Amino acid sequence: MPAIIVVGAQWGDEGKGRVVDDLARQAHIVARYNGGDNAGHTVVAQGHTLRLHLVPSGILHPHVTCLIGAGVVVNLAQLAAELDELGALGIDVGPERVRLAAAAHVILPTHRALDGAREAARGKTAIGTTRRGIGPVYADKAARVGLRAGQMADPESFGELVAALVQAHNRLLQEHYGLDPLPVGEIVAESVALARRLRPYLADGSELVARALAAGQTVLCEGAQGTLLDLDHGTYPYVTSSSTVAGGALTGLGFGPREVARVIGVAKAYTTRVGAGPFPTELTDETGDRIRQVGGEYGTTTGRPRRCGWLDLPILRYAVQINGLTELALTKLDVLTGIHPLKVAVAYERGGKQTERFPGEWGAEELIRWQVVYEELPGWDEDIRSARRWEDLPEATRAYVARIEQAIGVPISLIGVGPEREETVRR
Ligand code: IMP
Repeated sequence: MPAIIVVGAQWGDEGKGRVVDDLARQAHIVARYNGGDNAGHTVVAQGHTLRLHLVPSGILHPHVTCLIGAGVVVNLAQLAAELDELGALGIDVGPERVRLAAAAHVILPTHRALDGAREAARGKTAIGTTRRGIGPVYADKAARVGLRAGQMADPESFGELVAALVQAHNRLLQEHYGLDPLPVGEIVAESVALARRLRPYLADGSELVARALAAGQTVLCEGAQGTLLDLDHGTYPYVTSSSTVAGGALTGLGFGPREVARVIGVAKAYTTRVGAGPFPTELTDETGDRIRQVGGEYGTTTGRPRRCGWLDLPILRYAVQINGLTELALTKLDVLTGIHPLKVAVAYERGGKQTERFPGEWGAEELIRWQVVYEELPGWDEDIRSARRWEDLPEATRAYVARIEQAIGVPISLIGVGPEREETVRR
């Protein structure tokens, strides 16, 4: 099998890690294609719960090579810490298993400081970023002044490049934001040490992918965040700064569209969002609180409570279209048990005009002018966590899933009915 892309169909946190973990069994390479340590997924290894932000979710499968692709932005200290943590548990994290694309960009501490400064300066219109330096590092990349991981091959000259960029950032911090500069010498020393440490992991990422594909191996492309956080197609400006959509896998890893066999969207059975920005189906009542509590909806990276709301079918249809989804994995269906009735958004309305299309393309300011049109569906009270086959699910649960399938026009191939790996219904 060639390339399989796993992409978030909502605002991130859909449970992509679990789907990737599931598919990694048949994969040779698991490759992250966008974002940085703003993302987070929880893995349980040897009884320890680890929160990984950069190392791809396939790391627990010993036969898999994990690639951090060109489209990713890398906090070097975070990567080293994750390798240490995994290594301490006896997981092989040697340079033959974990590869870092030379074209990936490097996040410096001053990128993080600038992220915080820009957020503070936005005041009421703050994006609610994870403050990991994501916006500033992608801005430097687009402005062609960024640092690439491959430059760590020569740690000393890398140190000089770091010094120059940190000085430029410091001028901005001081002159534009009135903040203290960060210590250049300290950052350079740390960066040079990290370059020495991480240099063996550097690889030609696109060549690695090309070779695997040419050999008929499966490359599993792991997206971070979700479709509505995409820089081009999300709810701009309340988005992240990378291409989260399926197309991002092609640019972020460097291969062509002919290689793609499956594009799997991952969606929760409801909707969540972290950070600011429009969220049409948000629930600010007890039902929202209940979903947050039962679903454990707190950010992996920042610990922030996630905003929770009803499932939005126009969003899922939009995700099918933007990503060319071949199928959908629906996660956390068990969280809806006991809620009566269930509501799903089926359309948007404005000035007497209804549309089944998600009106997000015109940006956040436009989106808030639309009203949501809901449909009510019966809930269920049965515990569905022990269900493994479609037939095991109560009728109302099946009707809920079938309604989604009917609306999006692609099959729902996997349903998560509980937090454990095996708590899954496959179809
Ligand atoms: P940034 O990516 O840190 O710049 O944050 C931009 C927006 O994306 C904010 O609303 C964040 O909350 C959101 N975001 C970034 N990464 C994730 C994620 O992994 N899950 C959910 N939201 C995220």
